[in-house]
Amino acid sequence: MASMTKWVSVFSKELATFMKTAPAISPIHKTDHIQRVWKTSEVLCKKLGGDLEIMVATVFLHDLGRHHGLEIHGEKSAELARSILERLNFPKDKIEPALDAIAKHDYTTPNEARTSVYAKILYDADKLDAFGKVGIQRHITFYLNKGKTVKEILEMMEKRWEGLSIPESKEVGRKDYELTRRYFINLGKKQNRLNRLKPAKKTIRNKRR
Ligand SMILES: [Fe+2]
Ligand SMILES: [Fe+2]
Repeated sequence: MASMTKWVSVFSKELATFMKTAPAISPIHKTDHIQRVWKTSEVLCKKLGGDLEIMVATVFLHDLGRHHGLEIHGEKSAELARSILERLNFPKDKIEPALDAIAKHDYTTPNEARTSVYAKILYDADKLDAFGKVGIQRHITFYLNKGKTVKEILEMMEKRWEGLSIPESKEVGRKDYELTRRYFINLGKKQNRLNRLKPAKKTIRNKRR
């Protein structure tokens, strides 16, 4: 446990340094995202009996490639993570499992490819960050305000939830998922009520004539 705490602090500093010179910072993959993904991953890793040091490295370095302007960034993150882990003398036998999980965390990689516990946990914890109070805020900023409808957002959320790799993730994330889902269902109902109150365009045109 002590070494896990040590690595959390070491990787937090590494990440802060990396972000200072990263070529294309992605605002939704910054330190706050990493901290939330770590919180969920730690719970899941303990539940499933995984190695917490591997999990820390996996989570803290998984989005490095995102800050290089790449949407599909697993491979790039793994490449950047390798040099950091080697430079920091991270335990040699724990490097490959961490890099494997990082390389396979893109949504374009099929679930079957994520065979290790670390790959499954990272993928799920990353997806669960779209739920809860912060998740609602992210959905509004990045989807609703950019033209997606509430119906489309609810469909995306459902797909995300159903695509989780392990049942334990649903146990851990269910409350936040329900909260987010309820919020958008109610928002949709409110929008429908408001739309019904609006005068139909045809009526207005008819009055003008
Ligand atoms: Fe990512
Ligand atoms: Fe992420």
